[in-house]
Amino acid sequence: MKLIRASIDDLNELAAFERRCFSDEDWRLNRRAFSYHLKRENYLIKAELNGALAGYALVFTAKNRDWARLYALGVDSAYYRRGIGAALLTNAIEYAKKLGKKRLFLEVRIDNAAAIALYKKFAFRKIALIKAYYPLGADGLKMNLEL
Ligand SMILES: CC(C)(COP(=O)(O)OP(=O)(O)OC[C@H]1O[C@@H](n2cnc3c(N)ncnc32)[C@H](O)[C@@H]1OP(=O)(O)O)[C@@H](O)C(=O)NCCC(=O)NCCS
Repeated sequence: MKLIRASIDDLNELAAFERRCFSDEDWRLNRRAFSYHLKRENYLIKAELNGALAGYALVFTAKNRDWARLYALGVDSAYYRRGIGAALLTNAIEYAKKLGKKRLFLEVRIDNAAAIALYKKFAFRKIALIKAYYPLGADGLKMNLEL
């Protein structure tokens, strides 16, 4: 498995992956959103397995802010529980630390047990409940990691 920073050439592959990886219950990024993040130089790291996209993480940063936001993290369901999500999250945390950010926060669907277990393993803490945050009305949890 290789971790590679994404470029604008990856737009189509990322948009197709997003449709497979996330459901209608989630906020999905479309091609235009990926284009925005890549042009803005937000950090998008891909996990490649045998030359195919197996997952990605996207970190939103802003100058003059002491925090970063984990905007998305997804793994191809064919490769769940092989450490890819953890590898992407480790890489995203290291990136935010390298930029000198003091904390990394994210939102996760309250019924997304797999993701919540992963974030807890990395010492993220629940800091808020966001009512009806998701498109079909599910609540979100805001979680934070002090870096
Ligand atoms: C959440 C997600 C990224 C995890 O990816 P993954 O590559 O399967 O995760 P890993 O193999 O690195 O798992 C690391 C740890 O997370 C936890 N974990 C992952 N999946 C889990 C599950 N289904 N149930 C319980 N714990 C789970 C475990 O602690 C696991 O460690 P272990 O396998 O040693 O027990 C993946 O399930 C996914 O892409 N889901 C759909 C998209 C999504 O929900 N993204 C998060 C949005 S906030």
